[in-house]
Amino acid sequence: MSQDSQGVEDQLGSDESRHHCQLQPQISRIEAEIYGRLSKVIDPELGRSITDLGMIPELHVVPATDGNSYDANISVELTVKGCPLSQTITNQINGAVSTYPGASITPHIELASMSQEKLSNLVSELKAERKQNPFSRPGIKTRIFAIASGKGGVGKSSVCANLAASFAALGYDTAAIDADIYGFSLPGLFGVHSQPTNLNGMLMPVTAWGVKLISIGMFAGSEQAILWRGPRLQRSLQQFLSDVWWGEPDVLLLDLAPGTGDMAISVAQALPNAELVIVTTPQPSASDVAVRSGLVALQVPTKVRGVVENMSYYDHQGERLEIFGHGGGQRVSEELTRALGHQVPLLAQLPLETDLRETGESGRPVVLKPDGNLDSTPIAQSFKSLAQSLIR
Ligand SMILES: Nc1ncnc2c1ncn2[C@@H]1O[C@H](COP(=O)(O)OP(=O)(O)O)[C@@H](O)[C@H]1O
Ligand SMILES: [Mg+2]
Repeated sequence: MSQDSQGVEDQLGSDESRHHCQLQPQISRIEAEIYGRLSKVIDPELGRSITDLGMIPELHVVPATDGNSYDANISVELTVKGCPLSQTITNQINGAVSTYPGASITPHIELASMSQEKLSNLVSELKAERKQNPFSRPGIKTRIFAIASGKGGVGKSSVCANLAASFAALGYDTAAIDADIYGFSLPGLFGVHSQPTNLNGMLMPVTAWGVKLISIGMFAGSEQAILWRGPRLQRSLQQFLSDVWWGEPDVLLLDLAPGTGDMAISVAQALPNAELVIVTTPQPSASDVAVRSGLVALQVPTKVRGVVENMSYYDHQGERLEIFGHGGGQRVSEELTRALGHQVPLLAQLPLETDLRETGESGRPVVLKPDGNLDSTPIAQSFKSLAQSLIR
């Protein structure tokens, strides 16, 4: 086509091409604004904007055939194929586009996965940024509560699970590490059957009942379990911290292995901001070792935040039956207060409750209703106040 005839064509123009020319600046503006909206969509696993992560390689807005609206063609590159959270991401993208106020736009999403090269670059970038243990960074906002007990069977994991679920239901971004390598129980208590997504050597915690979780129990039989357990037991906590992508949650809970020594020391070293919460039952056999588990604070600088007495009483038609005796929590609180020279309060006395065990065994923390909201039962209220007093 010659210059001249091109000019004539332009002047006369088909309706459609003239329409396009007029629209072009407007389309560019819409594309920029849509991209801006997409930058607010956060990848639920990495906790980062999908545009920052390079997940939107292409975005084109074109006028729809009806002439009044637009189509937005969006390519989305997921970090891993068949990523379980892809539906969440596409829902959020659809929401961000279809609520665009300036025009009526229909999103068309094409899903693909990142090339190996792009993915490994992204992972190296994230790893470099995070260095080793993300929670030892100065100024990190995460409050860390390590749930400890002298001996097993006192309800430490049940307290940890229900506390985590309460924090999440109260709106805190909550994570939990099952640091009880041999006696893990958080996957069962949260009904988790899936494995964490492995992103080129970096693991994504599994989210259940609003809590980001990691547990050796999620790797049953796999190589990762052997890597983490096996000869590197002492390092397992360090690995939970550095091999898992945590982002920056508001609250991190640790379900520690029972005992009075090693574990609490590794926690104090790896997580200088961690606050110990000691769980005991009322009888002396439990409270004596509970005191010793708190005395670890004399060896390593760590804060003992308080004591939770579990299975304190059984409410039998309004009558409080003290099945496991009386006074253990109070005794631990007083002895630790004296030994450590600062107030170690008795934060809660939780009843013995069949529901707590039964619901927990079915895979739901008892403080939550089946819809995931905080229940209004007395036990849920106790955990809610415990969460609120810890975070104060
Ligand atoms: N307050 C409670 N009421 C009833 N059962 C409880 C309570 N706390 C814990 N349990 C039950 O006691 C057992 C041990 O609790 P668990 O949380 O696994 O303890 P730990 O982690 O200290 O070993 C579990 O079967 C659990 O369901
Ligand atoms: Mg346990």
